[in-house]
Formats: sequence, C-alpha cells, structure tokens
Amino acid sequence: MPLVTTKEMFKKAYEGGYAIGAFNVNNMEIIQGITEAAKEVNAPLILQVSAGARKYANHTYLMILVEAAAIDTQLPICLHLDHGDSFEICKACIDGGFTSVMIDGSHLPFEENIKLTKQVVDYAHDHGVVVEGELGRLAGVEDDINVSEEESSYTKPEEVEEFVARTGVDSLAVAIGTSHGAYKFKGEPELRFDILEEIARRLPGFPIVLHGASSVIPEFVEKINKYGGNMPGARGVPEDMLRKAARSAVCKINIDSDLRLAMTGTIREYLAQHPDHFDPRQYLRPAREAIKELVKHKLIHVLGCDGKA
Ligand code: G3H
Ligand code: 13P
Ligand code: ZN
Repeated sequence: MPLVTTKEMFKKAYEGGYAIGAFNVNNMEIIQGITEAAKEVNAPLILQVSAGARKYANHTYLMILVEAAAIDTQLPICLHLDHGDSFEICKACIDGGFTSVMIDGSHLPFEENIKLTKQVVDYAHDHGVVVEGELGRLAGVEDDINVSEEESSYTKPEEVEEFVARTGVDSLAVAIGTSHGAYKFKGEPELRFDILEEIARRLPGFPIVLHGASSVIPEFVEKINKYGGNMPGARGVPEDMLRKAARSAVCKINIDSDLRLAMTGTIREYLAQHPDHFDPRQYLRPAREAIKELVKHKLIHVLGCDGKA
C-alpha cells in the first residue's frame, strides 16, 4: 500500500474516540519493531522522522525503509516530519515523498508563527501533503534545543481558532503539561485537561496532537540502571492520562523516549548477560522484539487503535 496522509486516519480516530500512535524512527530495527507490532494488531500508523533522525540516517534511507514497511505490512502508514523548524526542511520532505510535515513555530511570536505555518501549508497542500502546526511550548529536549520549564508555556485556548483559520493547518499540537524526554515531572504528574477541553470546544471535529507522551516505562529504566546506566528520577506520563487524552479530540500521540529506553535497556541487559557476544544481530534482535512488544501494548491499551487499519 502506498504511504497515506493522516486525513482519513484522523477523521476515524476523532469519531471513534481513539488516537493514532506517532512513533519516531531512526533505523531499520526501530521501523521493523513498530510496524510488526501494528501488523499483528491491524493498526494504522504514523512513523515520524526528526531533523536529527534525518541527519543521522539520511532522508533516502529512512524513506525507503518506511516504504518497505508499508509494502511488507500492507498497512496505512503516514510518513511525517517531526518538529520541522523551517520552510526549507518542510519543502525538502514534501518534495522527497513524506505525506505529512510538522512546522513547529511554537517558539515564535503568534503572528510570525502564523506566517511561517501558512507558507508551509500553502506549499504542502499544493502537493497533497498535510501539515501539523503548534501553539504553546513544551519543556524538554528535542534535537539540540533544550526548553527549560520556565521557557515552556501552555497553549492559550483563545488563540487556537484564529491560528487554525488563518494558517489552514490540518492538525494542531498543544502544550498541556507533557514534555519531551525521560524526565517529565519532578512531582506528581499533572496534565491540564481543562485546557484541552476548552481547545476541543473551540475547534469541533479538529484533530489535536499530544507531544511528549512517553510513559517512561519503569521496567526499562530499571534495566538501564541495573546494567551500568544512570537515570535516577526518570518519569513519564501515566497511561491512564494518555488513555483519557486518546478518547478526546487528541488524534495523534507522539512517542519516542519509550522506544529509546526499551532499546537501550534491552541491549544493556543482553550485553551484560552475554559479555562474549559481538555480532550486532545478537543484541539488536531482542531490542527489536522489545520495541514490538512495547508498541503492541501501546496500540491496544493506551491508544485504542488496534483493529482500526
Ligand atoms: O520531539 C523530539 C523527538 O523525541 C525527536 O528527538 O530530535 O533527538 O531525534 P530527536
Ligand atoms: P517523548 O520524548 O515523550 O517520547 O515525546 C516524543 C515527541 O513528542 C516527538 O515529537
Ligand atoms: Zn515533539
């Protein structure tokens, strides 16, 4: 099946009260782990590539690996640019076969964010590609940018209608208290569902996106800490909060850190238990399997999108 946009996926997810998983990909094993899981439970998928991933693995390699996964699984798969920060990178991904791009102008003043986002939307829509914009700013680390808690800000619901109307974006990422990375909450986890509800009320039928939605699964953090790592205080978004979000206007939930933790925890454990092994296939196989099991769990129990492909 050729790569698809998110149009149909989001319409069904909104109406059906579930969310599509948007998983970050950087190499073949990650792509295979995610797509094998989706195949087993018949789930639609968004595979997303950050600027860093594109630099690491090369646009063409990622593009063709994702196309291979779509052929192999016959699932509806959308290939999305995560956190595009300029018109140029969005254009390169649109020209290079992506079916969706995010233009992240969330750090810009409102009018500049609108201007940049609209420029991307005009180009993308002319090429049959959909666009995700962002209002509000998440804390945490993405690529080389580290947004501190003080610099982060919740989405202002009173801005969303004007932003969507003037830019023509197809979905909107919002900030309601999640953050990027493995250290999301110092105290009790708290998400501002009141802000989310107000945004949804102002944008009926419109798909909302939740970034920074890894749960930071303790099993993998424990493995990392047990086998030579050091990640004290790592903490993510509780799964019941994500389930609640998935039942609401949130149609896309972004997950990257959980994949990294699953892969790293599994490889650390494997190498500690097999100190004489040096064939990468030996430790990448269980890492790929851990990603597959983790993603299956998310698709069924967190996102509720199993059986929806
Ligand atoms: O939101 C950021 C994603 O986790 C991607 O991270 O930019 O380090 O690839 P990256
Ligand atoms: P996590 O760091 O919580 O996995 O968030 C990923 C993300 O938002 C990618 O855009
Ligand atoms: Zn993000």
